[in-house]
Amino acid sequence: MKIDRRKFIKTASTAAAASFVLPRFSIAETKSPNEKLNVAFVGVGGIGSMALNGMSSENIVALCDVDWKYSARAASKYPKAKRFTDYRQMLDKMGKDIDAVCVSTPDHSHFKITLDSMSAGKHVCVQKPLVHNVWQCRELQKAKAYYPKLKTQMMNQGHATTQIRMLKAWYDLGVAGPISEVYVGCGGPSWWKGKGTPYFVKPKVWPLTKDTPPEGFDFNLWLNQAQETYFNKTYHPLAWRGFWNFGTGMLGDWFCHTGDAPVWILDLKAPSKVELIDRKGDYDPKAFIPDTSVVKWTFPKTDKRGEVVMYWCDGNREMPKPKDWDRPNPPRGGCMMMFGKDHTIATGARPNIDTRICGREFFQNFRREKKDEIAAKMPPKVRKDSIYCEWIDAIKGDGPECLGSFDYAAQLTEVALLGVLAQRFGGVIEWDHEKMASPNRPELNAFIKEPERAGWESDSVRPWAKKSFWNRLFS
Ligand SMILES: NC(=O)c1ccc[n+]([C@@H]2O[C@H](COP(=O)([O-])OP(=O)(O)OC[C@H]3O[C@@H](n4cnc5c(N)ncnc54)[C@H](O)[C@@H]3O)[C@@H](O)[C@H]2O)c1
Repeated sequence: MKIDRRKFIKTASTAAAASFVLPRFSIAETKSPNEKLNVAFVGVGGIGSMALNGMSSENIVALCDVDWKYSARAASKYPKAKRFTDYRQMLDKMGKDIDAVCVSTPDHSHFKITLDSMSAGKHVCVQKPLVHNVWQCRELQKAKAYYPKLKTQMMNQGHATTQIRMLKAWYDLGVAGPISEVYVGCGGPSWWKGKGTPYFVKPKVWPLTKDTPPEGFDFNLWLNQAQETYFNKTYHPLAWRGFWNFGTGMLGDWFCHTGDAPVWILDLKAPSKVELIDRKGDYDPKAFIPDTSVVKWTFPKTDKRGEVVMYWCDGNREMPKPKDWDRPNPPRGGCMMMFGKDHTIATGARPNIDTRICGREFFQNFRREKKDEIAAKMPPKVRKDSIYCEWIDAIKGDGPECLGSFDYAAQLTEVALLGVLAQRFGGVIEWDHEKMASPNRPELNAFIKEPERAGWESDSVRPWAKKSFWNRLFS
């Protein structure tokens, strides 16, 4: 049964409104013509421009960016959209006219922008990794449960593709046999050498010098929840991802793509430990990322599968070659391999690149002979294989819940962020999933839940965490 969209969005907004303790923003009402969604974008200049393209079928009503010079080109295609520098003002002033918000800012600001938007009754989609620390993952899962009508999505494009659904069907048909070892590889970081895109810039000195922010760039708003610091021109745009305070390095950048298939298909979560196996290159646990590392997670046996160990190898390292390896060169760089007892399931850097069971002849025969069984096992396809269409359709009631909703996005991101902790601080980190703490490394608590900058605390938009009068009295 199709749900009437106007009725649906109204219900979503009303549900969100009802659950507010103190609503900060007005709740969206459906006003757009042609049954299009009214979408607002926070973060326009970088990958936000791709999200804008992906959602150009809808009404792009508002654009928010803290640097209108960097984002000018992307924004110029949408002259009718109202422009803002502070997303809080955008929600405040245009709240009634916005159905959904798309967040493409650096990792450290995803959490607060997302929570503020959900708290204002907006459907939200966010770039990967979902957030910057493990506690934030759990809180966004709670937010999703608290606002059940709001549709959420993380924009790791591969998760909406037919290929990842195929991978799941192959595994569920048992073709690989039991899987106990997984390798997820990545090529970079390729440090900027004065040419190309400066995704990763190795600082020549640390601490960095204090620079004046370029005109028109609001560094205070850019900082969002991150700890108070001064501006350095290396940070913005792009290269923030190599600095722990803002980004999550190569692992945070790519694991949500390359590690998506094994985490989803094998339901990897709650590892018993995460450890650093190797790390090379200048690096500083307080400042910036290493050149190359190997990280290992151990996921205990569940009632559906045996114990799984997973390795992350960045820096273009050569990885072990499975017995049925089917390429002239050994596996390295952007690559995923699930070593099964019988066969290896492999992809390139994303689940929809070079998706296969190793062994060309075996793979071809398997696909031909099991065509109907594979089709029957595959989760429903997404319109245009597009993460954006999946979210739009879910909001309009024209499609199911996004498979990459915050429930799964938080699971995937938490696995990545635990790996980031091992990469950053080294050693063996035992992990207690229930307590959300490391029994043997209590000093890491400050990074599992990072402090929130004064004025940017999230307490007021986490009503589920509010203590009752009696709880407060006795705690
Ligand atoms: N899905 C993908 O394939 C993919 C690819 C690249 C980046 N990403 C993710 O997208 C996010 C952004 O990465 P990027 O490479 O575009 O970074 P970027 O620095 O190039 O762009 C970020 C944009 O957001 C703006 N911005 C920053 N803070 C803001 C704030 N508080 N309010 C409004 N605007 C703000 C910046 O001015 C800039 O225009 C990151 O989380 C990254 O991991 C995803």
